Amino acid sequence: MAVQVVILAAGQGKRMHSSQPKVLHSLAGKSLIEHVLQAAKPLSSLPPMVIHGHQGPILQQNLAQYAIRWIEQKEQLGTGHAVLQTLSYLADQDHVLVLYGDVPLISTTMLQNLINDTPANALGMMTAQFENPKGYGRIKRDEQGKISRIIEEKDATEQEKKITEINSGIYFIPVNLLKTWLPKIKNQNAQNEYYLTDLIACAVKENTLIYAAKPREQEEIMGVNDRAELARLERFYQKKIAQKLMQKGVTLLDPMRFDVRGQVTVGRDVTIDVNVILEGDVTIGDDCIIGPHTLLRNVVLGNRVEVRAHSILDGAEIGSDAVIGPFARLRPGALLANETHVGNFVEIKNSVIGEKTKVNHLSYIGDSEIGKQVNIGAGTITCNYDGVNKHKTTIGDRVMVGSDTTLIAPIIIHDDVYIATATTVRKDVPAGALVFNSREEKIRQGWTFARKEKNHIREK
Ligand code: UD1
Ligand code: CA
Repeated sequence: MAVQVVILAAGQGKRMHSSQPKVLHSLAGKSLIEHVLQAAKPLSSLPPMVIHGHQGPILQQNLAQYAIRWIEQKEQLGTGHAVLQTLSYLADQDHVLVLYGDVPLISTTMLQNLINDTPANALGMMTAQFENPKGYGRIKRDEQGKISRIIEEKDATEQEKKITEINSGIYFIPVNLLKTWLPKIKNQNAQNEYYLTDLIACAVKENTLIYAAKPREQEEIMGVNDRAELARLERFYQKKIAQKLMQKGVTLLDPMRFDVRGQVTVGRDVTIDVNVILEGDVTIGDDCIIGPHTLLRNVVLGNRVEVRAHSILDGAEIGSDAVIGPFARLRPGALLANETHVGNFVEIKNSVIGEKTKVNHLSYIGDSEIGKQVNIGAGTITCNYDGVNKHKTTIGDRVMVGSDTTLIAPIIIHDDVYIATATTVRKDVPAGALVFNSREEKIRQGWTFARKEKNHIREK
C-alpha cells in the first residue's frame, strides 16, 4: 500500500485581499504550501499531487524546486470536485491523504499517526474541539457518539452552529472507497459546491468505520483564511521556536520579540536581546551576545562574538571573539577573522578582514583583502567602482591607515605601511613605507575677524 498525498490549492483566497495566491503567503519566511510540502514529504515516496486552478502558473513557478504532480481544477466547484480531478491518476490499492495548501502547521508526526492508527478499510480524519468554531464544518455525532455527518457553517442551523467539534478537512482514505463515493456527491447545498465533507455521510451509509483523531495542539490543523489568522499562526510558530531555543540553553530577553525565518543552530550560553530577526541559515557559536534590533541573515558566528545594537549582517562569516556594531552593516562575502572589531557606520562587502584588524568608525570596505592587525582609521573609503568595473584593494599585515583615507582600487598596500591622515592613495605602496599627499597647510591670521568687520557683522 502506498500513500498518495493530495494537497488542495486551487482556491483564490478572497479573504486575503491579495494579488498573490493565498498559499504563497509566507509564514516564518516560507510559503504556506511549502510548510505543507515539507511536513508531508517523509510520509510517501510518491510525489504529492497539488490541485491548482487560480493563478496556477505562479504557483508552479514558485514551487519549481519541488517534485510535484500538478493537477488542474479548471473551475473551483468545491473541495469534493477538487479531489475528483485526481481519481483517474490514483491506483486502486493505494490510500489518499488529503491536505490543504492553507493549513500550514500540520506536523509529520500527527499525519504519520493518522496513517498508522486508521484501521484497514476505514476512513481516518482529524477533528478538534474549538472554543470558537466559526467558519469550520461541524462534526455531528449520533446518540452513541458516532460521527454521522459534517455540516458546513453555511448550511448549519442555529442549533448546529453551537457544536464545537470541528472538521479539519484532513482525511486518510482508501482509493477504492474514494472512487466509489466521490462521483456520487451532489452540490445541493447553500454554496452549490461539491463538498468533500459529504464523504462522511457516504461512509456512514455504507457502515464504513470512521476513525477520528485529534491533534496535540489546535494550531496544527488551523487554516489561514485571512491575514489575522496568518498573524496568529506566525506568532504561535515563533513562540515554539523560541521555546526550543531556550530549552537548548539560549537566553531570550523577550521570547515574544524574537523572530526566526529559516534554520538556526545556536551554541550554549548565547544571549539574544529584543527584536532580533534571524533569517535563512544562521549559525551562532557559544557565548555570543546578540544586541537589540539586529538582523542576521545567512550568517555564521564563531564563539564569544558580540553583535551590538542595530547591526545588519547579511551573508557574513565572523570568527571568534569579534565585536560588531553598533550600527554596522556587513554585506554578502564579508569574512571576518578572529578578534576583529567593526564599529559604527561601517559597511563591509565582499572582503576578507584578517585577525585583530579594526575598522571602527564610518568606513566603506568593498572587494578588499585586509591582513592581520591592521587599523583602518575613521572615514576610510575603498573606491572600488569606476562606474563600469569593480576593483580590488589589498592591504597587508600591520598596516596603519589614517583617518579620511581614500584608496583608489585596484591597489596593493604591502605589509607595515603607514598611510597618513587624509591621503588619497592611487599607487601601490611597498612594504614599510610611509605614504602621504603633500599639501601645504596655510594659515591667514585674523582672517575671520577681518571678514566680519568688512561685512558689518556684529557679535551679539
Ligand atoms: C473546508 C471544509 C470544512 C473544514 C475546513 C477546514 C469542505 C466543504 N469544507 O472549508 O468542513 O472545516 O475546510 O479548514 O470541504 N479548494 C480547491 N478547489 C475548490 C475549493 C477549494 O482546491 O474548488 C481548496 C482551497 O484552495 C483551500 C481548500 O480547498 O486550500 C479549502 O477550501 P475552502 O474554501 O477554504 O474551505 P473551507 O470553507 O475552509
Ligand atoms: Ca479554508
